[in-house]
Amino acid sequence: MVMLSMKISKEIGLSFDDVLLVPNKNIFGSRSNISLRTKLTRNIELNTPIVSANMDTITSSQMAIAMAESGGIGIIHRFNTIQEEMEEVEKVKRKSSFIIKNPYTIAIDKTVGDVKNLINKTGVSGFPVVDIRNKTKLLGIVTLRDIKFQSDNNKISDIMTPKKDLITILSNKNLNATFFLDMFKKYKFEKIPIIDSKFNLIALVAAKDIFDIRNNITSKNKDGKLMVGAAVGIKSDAIERIEKLYDAEADAVVIDIAHGHSIQAINLIQKIKKDFDIDIIAGNVATKQGTLDLIKAGADAIKVGIGPGHVCTTRLVTGAGVPQLTAISWAYSIAKDYDVPIIADGGINNSGDIVKALASGASSVMIGKLFAGTDETPGSTIIKNGKKYKFYRGMSSISANSKKLSVDMSGEISIDTIGEGKESFVPYVGSVKEIIVQLVGGIKSGFSYCGSKNLEQLRRNAEFIILSKGAQKESFVR
Ligand code: XMP
Repeated sequence: MVMLSMKISKEIGLSFDDVLLVPNKNIFGSRSNISLRTKLTRNIELNTPIVSANMDTITSSQMAIAMAESGGIGIIHRFNTIQEEMEEVEKVKRKSSFIIKNPYTIAIDKTVGDVKNLINKTGVSGFPVVDIRNKTKLLGIVTLRDIKFQSDNNKISDIMTPKKDLITILSNKNLNATFFLDMFKKYKFEKIPIIDSKFNLIALVAAKDIFDIRNNITSKNKDGKLMVGAAVGIKSDAIERIEKLYDAEADAVVIDIAHGHSIQAINLIQKIKKDFDIDIIAGNVATKQGTLDLIKAGADAIKVGIGPGHVCTTRLVTGAGVPQLTAISWAYSIAKDYDVPIIADGGINNSGDIVKALASGASSVMIGKLFAGTDETPGSTIIKNGKKYKFYRGMSSISANSKKLSVDMSGEISIDTIGEGKESFVPYVGSVKEIIVQLVGGIKSGFSYCGSKNLEQLRRNAEFIILSKGAQKESFVR
């Protein structure tokens, strides 16, 4: 052979579509017995093993709030000023997990048909009814239950729960979830308005949110605040950025470098570890050595993925990368001995891919594209041929790079801004929480097929089978 001197890995690189998980006996019955509880980092636990990507078309505060409320976590992107990133973290931290400020309302002169439209538009099932002119003056509440058997032209003033029958709470600082839980149990209402002394609407509390808290789905820190991560690069402002994010109480910092197995990343991890008490997620890597070096530097979680993402062109542009399932299992083979969790970043197409990622060693997955068309991403929808879309782009795409430059004020586009990412429009898909509910359902089914009621059992029980070309064809919807 001519190529004797070439160094070639003995392993075949595998990705999600190359394998299936072999089903295993289910000995625990219902899916409700399955727990998806996992670790994001050495010190942070999540109920849902899903992280939203630190990309400027995916995660700012709105997405991070929805992620935490769904049991996962969002990582605020860094393609903004330090002040802006800090403010996004603060918005998440300020968000009460159950008090809805500025709730949707409906004016008293509207009809049942108008309520139905508002329910369809907002996905919310009940509204405070307010005065026509003074939009904070509370006059009643109308919910899905009230309109069920009503015709569209009926007036809501005739069918709402009027002011005199409402349970309301006067605004004060000490309103906590246990208090509202008792109220909802006692009065069996779905919503309780918070008002001022003049019966002006200040906020709203929904029974569903309180029961969610009781079920302990939401990702919260020890002070009861929503958890959020934030990204930093390796530029000269990295330490200043981390200081501000730390002050804003970010729970974890992501060192966001496309090729994370680098001396700059290692130096930065060591510096952060020395000066800040914050968990560090380091990456991206795709090898055993990369994982080991970042762990030894002090990383509390390793983000794995060189080129699997939907808008990545890294593998085409550079010729470098490792198929994602193999990369996860390589990283896990090292990280498990140090009890450092792996975050599988990129290339997730469906809940089945998430189960495969978890079974091969990931503790959570980072998602961009699947969330790109949701209400919670930054940017508005555009309409083309009657259909709604949202913008999604790689963070190394030319347009994202020129934005970075304009933030840095560093002038011309330099040679190293050759794009390693694409830009695209993705169909609008509504609320990210709905998508996560679907994904979680699918993941739990996957656990059940593998006879596993938690992540530890999944890893122990998982047996992958490599697919032939024909089998791959058979697996996909035809
Ligand atoms: P998905 O597949 O969920 O992947 O959309 C999200 C992940 O893609 C990575 N990413 C990039 N990779 N060039 C790349 O090679 C890029 O421009 C780029 N932008 C994002 C990133 O790891 C993200 O979490």
